Parts: sequence; C-alpha cells; structure tokens
Amino acid sequence: MSELRNYHAAVWDEPLVMELSAPGRRGNVPPAPIAELDPATALPGAVLRQAAPALPEVAEPDVLRHFLHLSQETMGMVGISLFGTCTMKYNPRVGEQLSGRDGMAELHPDQDDSTLQGLLEAVHRFDLMLRGLSGMDRFVFQPGGGAHAAYTHTAVTRAYFADRGELEQRREIITTAQAHPCNPATASAAGFDVITLPVEEDGYASLDALKAVLSDRTAALMINNPDDMGIYNPHIKEWVDAVHEVGGLCFYDHANFNGVMGRLRARELGFDACMFMLHKTFGVAKGGGGPAVGAYGCSEELATYLPGPLVEATEDGYVRRENPRGVGRVREYLGNLNQVVKAFGWLTAMGADGIREAADISVLANNYMEVRLLELKGVTKAFPQMTKRRLEMTRFSLEEYTAETGITAVDVQNRMGDYGIDAFWLSHEPWIVPEPFTPEAGETWSLEDIDYWIDVLAHVLEEGRSDPELVRTAPHQQVVGQLDGSSLDDPEKWATTWRAHRRKSGRG
Ligand SMILES: Cc1ncc(COP(=O)(O)O)c(C=O)c1O
Repeated sequence: MSELRNYHAAVWDEPLVMELSAPGRRGNVPPAPIAELDPATALPGAVLRQAAPALPEVAEPDVLRHFLHLSQETMGMVGISLFGTCTMKYNPRVGEQLSGRDGMAELHPDQDDSTLQGLLEAVHRFDLMLRGLSGMDRFVFQPGGGAHAAYTHTAVTRAYFADRGELEQRREIITTAQAHPCNPATASAAGFDVITLPVEEDGYASLDALKAVLSDRTAALMINNPDDMGIYNPHIKEWVDAVHEVGGLCFYDHANFNGVMGRLRARELGFDACMFMLHKTFGVAKGGGGPAVGAYGCSEELATYLPGPLVEATEDGYVRRENPRGVGRVREYLGNLNQVVKAFGWLTAMGADGIREAADISVLANNYMEVRLLELKGVTKAFPQMTKRRLEMTRFSLEEYTAETGITAVDVQNRMGDYGIDAFWLSHEPWIVPEPFTPEAGETWSLEDIDYWIDVLAHVLEEGRSDPELVRTAPHQQVVGQLDGSSLDDPEKWATTWRAHRRKSGRG
C-alpha cells in the first residue's frame, strides 16, 4: 500500500485578466523609434484598424502573477491522470522545443511554399509514416480533433456517393451503441440517418445484427475497435466484408489505437478510411477541438474527395496543391501543424519497434490494473462474460458499491482529487454500464504511479464505508468544491468570451 500524499490546491480568488486591466499600464514599452511611429502614417491605410483592439492593459508582473495563480489552480498532467479513452500520456518537452523553434513558430501559412520546405517535408514524411501504420494511401491533418476527423469522413462519404449518383439512395450510416457519440453525431450533421446497433452479451454488436440492417441504403459503417471499454471485436473483418458487399464504406475510428499500435493495419482489415488522434496516441497534448489533430487517412479512391490543399513531393521540392474535387476546407490551411511536428518527432523517436513495445506495455499495464482493481470489494468489470483479455483499457462498474453505500462513481471521482489524482473518465453518454469508470494507464505512467492510483481508489472506497458524508461532499481540497451544473443548459448563465460575459451580466 502506497503512503497517500495529501494534496491541497492553491485557492486564489483570481480575477479575469480583463478585470486586471488599468488604462495606460504596459508590459514593456518598445524603444524609439518604434514607440514614436505613428501608425496612421507608418502603415498602409488598408491594414489599419478602425478602432483600437480591446486588449487588457497590464504590467508584466501582473501578467506573471496572474498566470502563476492560474497554473497553481490546476493539477494538469502533474497529477496522475489515468484518463481512459483519451490515452493521457506524458507530452515530452522535446516536442515543445521542436515546435517552438523560430523556423516553426514564426512561420505564416500564407508564405510561399519555397519558404516552407522544412515544414512541408515534415508534413509529407509524417503522412508517409501514417500510411505505413495504417495501409491507407493518403492522410490530411486539417481536422482539429477526433470528432472533426469523423465529420471529415461523413463529408467525404457524401461526396463519394454524390459522384456516383447514389447519394439520394444511400441515406444510412451504421454505428454501434459503444461507438463514441461523435460517430452518430457527425453522420447526422452530414445529413445521414443513423442506425445504432445494440451491444450484446459479449460486449459488442453481433454480425447478424449488422447484416439485418445492411442494404442498398447503406452509406457507411463508422466504428472503433477496440472500443472505449477495451473490448476488441474479433469479427471485424467479416463486418467490413459485409458492408462492402452492399456497396458501403467503412471508417475505422482509431481513438483506441494505443493497444494495437504496429499490430494491425486498418487497410488490411479492409477499411476504406481511418483516423488517428495525434493528441492522444502520438504524445501530443490533449485539447479537444483546439490545438488537437485528428489525422484522417483514406484509400486512393476516397483521396479524390479529401479537403485540400494536399502536400506533395515534386522534383522541385514540396508543394501545396488544391484538391479540385475535394470537399473543401474543414479548417484553415493545413491544420494545427505545430502538433503535427510534435507527433512527427514522437513517432520518429519511438520507431516501429518502439510503438509495438509501447502497445504491449499499455496492454500489460491495463491487465495488471484489472487484476488489482477486481480485488477491491464493490468493483466489477463491464461484460464479465466476455472473458478475452481487454486491450489498453477496461471499463469497470461501481454499481455494487453504490448499492452498498449510496456513494456514486462521481462522488468517488471527486474525492480522489483530494489525493492528487486527476478525475478519472467515467463513460461516454449514454451510460450502458451503471456507475462506470474507465482508467487507462498507457505506456508512460510508472508502476508506482499505477499502484498509487489504485491505492487511492481503495482508500476512498473504504472512506465511503466509514464516513460516507466525507466522500459525498468531496472534493474538499480543490480550487472549487462541487459545481452546481444546473445552469449549464442555460446559455444566458455562462459565457466563453469577455464580450459575452459583459453582455450577459449587463455590464456591456
Ligand atoms: C472512440 C473515440 N472516438 C472519437 C473521440 C473524439 O475525439 P476528440 O475528443 O479528439 O474529438 C473519442 C474521444 O474520447 C473517442 O474515445
């Protein structure tokens, strides 16, 4: 049993940076002659703003203090984060150094290709590496996350069938209850009807259920494997063949690639397209929809419809080319290329043997955790009748514990934070497993960290038995206690920008 460390977050009543602003206050004053330049005469009229931007006016120490306080209020990746389905691995500092170099950080995407050769080469070489990992023929990095890559697939699917004159007929996209919600959501956003197959006894939908819904209306199958419970559907090749038989396309959501890296290739299983999440599997910081990248890859046939521009190697160097029959942009330029550079660095350093070893370690770590976690009274595993080993993660349930104590998985999650543990992942909606929790160790957390995580959980479960109120009212040592989520459905009660905050609070 580890010696539990007491964690207490710093609590600052920190104002917003806009509220710190005082007219005329400056971080640093540029030396003459820059300071003396009159923008009205120094810049061409067309690039001049009509009004000064509403920026906070703050001195350098104010800025430093502000961000120090904010950083003290977050545990970030310094707490142990076994956050399943997101493969929260350590983000190597060398990646930050690579992407922070002047030759990368100071580039502008509107520069001429001849001045972007190093970056375009990195994009092209990384594309080749992902082709090697998946068997696909071409990758793009424009999508800003996994869900966005799934959306890209639905747009490509639409263009593909429109070209064949079948779009009116092929209205259906099939997925399963265990797919990530972004699969049905993006299918629906692209105008398709969604068919969701139920999960059966073994933890996945049956081939018969799939065959029962296949028809000449089928546009695509969108599926992950292993799924977010760590369960691998061994009949996946038959699924893909069956969908192809009726003329549909197959998309492999590779969010859970960590346990199978270098062990299987989407194209060899017959898939037409797949996506990798650079912000999960490839060691890049997580940031849903923001600085993330959902690398979308597909067969030569579907590449016709990829969002452009595409990067190509020519005899005269690397160039960006429009894709004339492509679906148009799904995001600006080539996407979050600083993240691509980090992932390129990560994959190059790992090498083919390295990623296979990492996959093996992540499966081993998960199986180790599973054995220890199932020894805890009140913890069970989802779909226990599915006896084959889970891969990189396992979905557990606290249903029995909740029945015994009234303490829920969310209560336990809240209390673990008081011991320096980042909140664990429960389950995507809808919960098909009661009181779920889904830890994932990946390959980067040490045995000591994994043991510590389990020891904290064991301790909190016992606390819930001896002092239920302590756990039910947790967290006690965080920046904020339990949040009242009741206002989240009312957009008038929250704001994501300063301008909206002022308008909604009547101060604008
Ligand atoms: C299986 C699966 N697909 C897609 C996604 C969406 O990824 P992102 O958060 O990058 O949009 C997730 C996220 O957890 C996932 O687990």
